Amino acid sequence: MTNPFTIGYASLNDEISVASLPIEGTIPRWLVGTLLRNGPAKFEFEQEELWHWFDGLAMLHRFSFQDGNVSYANKFLQSDANKTSKEEGRITFPVFASDPCKALFKHSVTEMMLNPNVSIQKVSGDFLALTEIPLPMAFDPHTLDTLGVVEYKDHLTGQHSSAHPLYDFASKTMISYMTEFGLESTFKVFGIKSGEHQRTLIGSYPVAEPSYIHSFSITERYVVIAEYPYRVVPAKLLTGGKSFIQNFEWRPQDPTLFIVMSKQDGSIIGRYESEAFFSFHHINAFERAGEIIVDLSAYPDTKVIDESNLPNLRKGRNDGKDPYTAPSEYRRYHLPLHGSSSTVTYELMSEYEIELPTINYPRSNAHDYGVAYGISLARNAPVLLAHQLVRVDVHERTSNFWSAEGCNPGEPIFVQAPDARAEDDGVVLSVVLNANKGNSFLLVLDAHTFEELGRAEVPHHIPLGIHGMYFPEV
Ligand SMILES: [Fe+2]
Repeated sequence: MTNPFTIGYASLNDEISVASLPIEGTIPRWLVGTLLRNGPAKFEFEQEELWHWFDGLAMLHRFSFQDGNVSYANKFLQSDANKTSKEEGRITFPVFASDPCKALFKHSVTEMMLNPNVSIQKVSGDFLALTEIPLPMAFDPHTLDTLGVVEYKDHLTGQHSSAHPLYDFASKTMISYMTEFGLESTFKVFGIKSGEHQRTLIGSYPVAEPSYIHSFSITERYVVIAEYPYRVVPAKLLTGGKSFIQNFEWRPQDPTLFIVMSKQDGSIIGRYESEAFFSFHHINAFERAGEIIVDLSAYPDTKVIDESNLPNLRKGRNDGKDPYTAPSEYRRYHLPLHGSSSTVTYELMSEYEIELPTINYPRSNAHDYGVAYGISLARNAPVLLAHQLVRVDVHERTSNFWSAEGCNPGEPIFVQAPDARAEDDGVVLSVVLNANKGNSFLLVLDAHTFEELGRAEVPHHIPLGIHGMYFPEV
């Protein structure tokens, strides 16, 4: 057995294409389409190596399903960052958290070398690899060849955006945000209408010291932003020479703020305060009986960012005084739409940790929903690596799990069956690292029972990735 902490964060240099992966069990024949995934896959160069997991060079993975077969291919995103860092043997691109080289603010966004290694989205027909720099990179979903940076035909400016834009099915608009840092910083929410290649401002507001925000949520009428007390320190920005996240400071004495913006006219209709917490991932939000419900995966602080450095992850344990990174809780915040109270509290939706949360997105995004999926870790586990998938029944507040000895699953993606009636009629796909065999496999679970239907074995290990998306049309 190999060590999961070592191979999960080991570089993968091979690029392969396999017409038909060996299958155990059964892959449903109705599953026709493609799972595209993105993630960091190369961490060392001849003279330098990356310190933080989030900074590895982007690699795309494609799993295509047809007639119960699964084909697979993987390819590095052919960015200038990829080319020059390999040629020069050093880190040539701006980093999120690794030690200083080219920090975000030393370069204008147009001259930066991009390494979009976080997520995949389809926007106005383009398949995009995204990071938090607001310049997505387009690629061919069949060949995984890189097509180039997408530059929108508008004048919206900003240096930091989200790798998690949300599609508003009602208005056929992709919604996201950008922060423009400056003497007077501005937070901007924008939309891209389906088929268009320009961003239109929905609303904006000034922020004295912008917060680091990774994702957000939408409801039928509103955009919901959580501003964590993890704020930029202007003096650090001025001195430069830091990775992006080193410009931010955690202030546990300050509240987390929820800001609710109207999608219609960009007006701010509510500001709320809660105890300090941090979150990478909102799970969902919706309006119900005079309030907005906001569900997210919450940490008590930002230690998870620092502890996700590669030396730490490869050891499998953190270095701090605490025996483990605090779990990310499945929290439900209630934001009253009327009344004078601006202090909000939460209820715990599950006693189990949830990260990389997903839902039946086309059906449930921005609406009341019944099921969420995620990766999970037993409470108090002295490791940093999720070893199970969790399925949470949101109404019953019950959880069930999939796990297998020596296996570490990645983000679960729900795919709806063609004749679906219930919200969870379909399958859940996850790329699982198998330390027993030293490789990865694509796992297919029944989304309702959470029982394994089948798996497709990949010839190599796939470094633990971040996000992906399923496209029935590819
Ligand atoms: Fe994310």
